[in-house]
Amino acid sequence: PDISFKREDLQVRLAAPYQLIPKPETVELGFGKYFTDHMMKINYHKQLGGWQKPEITPFENLSIHPAAKALHYAIQLFEGLKAYRGVDDKIRLFRPELNMERMNLAAARSGLPTFDGNELIQCISRLIQIDQEWVPHSETSTLYIRPTLIASEATFGIMAPESALLFVIMSPVSAYYKAGGDGAVSIFADPAVVRAFPGGVGNRKVGSNYGPTIEATARAAKLGHQQVLWLFGPNHELTEVGAMNIFMVHINDQGDKQLSTPPLNGLILPGVTRRSIIELASQWEDLTVKEEVITMERVIELNKKGRLLEMFGAGTAVVISPISRVGFLDHDINIPTMKQSQPVFQRVKDTLLAIQYGHLEHPFAKVIS
Ligand code: COI
Repeated sequence: PDISFKREDLQVRLAAPYQLIPKPETVELGFGKYFTDHMMKINYHKQLGGWQKPEITPFENLSIHPAAKALHYAIQLFEGLKAYRGVDDKIRLFRPELNMERMNLAAARSGLPTFDGNELIQCISRLIQIDQEWVPHSETSTLYIRPTLIASEATFGIMAPESALLFVIMSPVSAYYKAGGDGAVSIFADPAVVRAFPGGVGNRKVGSNYGPTIEATARAAKLGHQQVLWLFGPNHELTEVGAMNIFMVHINDQGDKQLSTPPLNGLILPGVTRRSIIELASQWEDLTVKEEVITMERVIELNKKGRLLEMFGAGTAVVISPISRVGFLDHDINIPTMKQSQPVFQRVKDTLLAIQYGHLEHPFAKVIS
């Protein structure tokens, strides 16, 4: 592994008063439209011994060579995590070590340099402290943090880059997208399009997983659906929905209420929200939790029998997105997610938000220091 950069080497160059950016109203934030006053950059140069000193600078454009490998071969990865302003005014991160772990896995897969995740968390915490007024004073908004690692070496060879840039930018955000009137989304499955395949990078957060989803999403939108349901294989296994992990609640063959999500078989992004839901809901005595293959046939059959109760997507950006309808071949499947009296999706969402905003003390949430 590469020798990491360190928090103790962090250099800070603060923005001058005239460089400070006006803060938008929390109601109109959208997702990733506004950026904070500062950013972080950490260069990697193999010739200079690897990782250089981390630096916090005023938010500014990058200068990048047009031949940089990131721009041609997508030798690149990114992460997404949030900083929450709690009821006690303290700022918390939610399991950031999982994002760091995933970042290093993606780096290794792409020939990008690895680093010590703890050091990056500490550098990011300092960046948040500097821009702390950008963490919204609201429980419907957060500060979204986007660490990104790109191959900056400017040669056309497809090989591990000799230079790279890790940068972190931050954006105050509200909802990732607009749901339908009832708060739920309709999703469309096109078996002809795949997001990920065995041996591929569906389980790594690399940009190249996202660009190729745009055409299919636009096609789904034309048919009146907000997101794409990604299927895989001859059995039409459900893998993910949009940029989220997918969950289903049903009455299982034993007559118990069960929360299911596809297993981490290489096709699934190991979501921090996904993992947290599994771990939290496993403690609930009235619910069976299972990682299992879910096929479209099973969805259709359960729905016909009235045993399919809920479907929802889960991710850092959206948190929880209930699903009320699935379009698939000539099926138009109505899911009674919004008709449940005590839906699991709401309980999951309330629990996550309670932890994130400090209503509930829990080891998943870490107050930054
Ligand atoms: C998520 O946080 O759920 C995402 O996948 C982020 C998305 C904007 C790429």
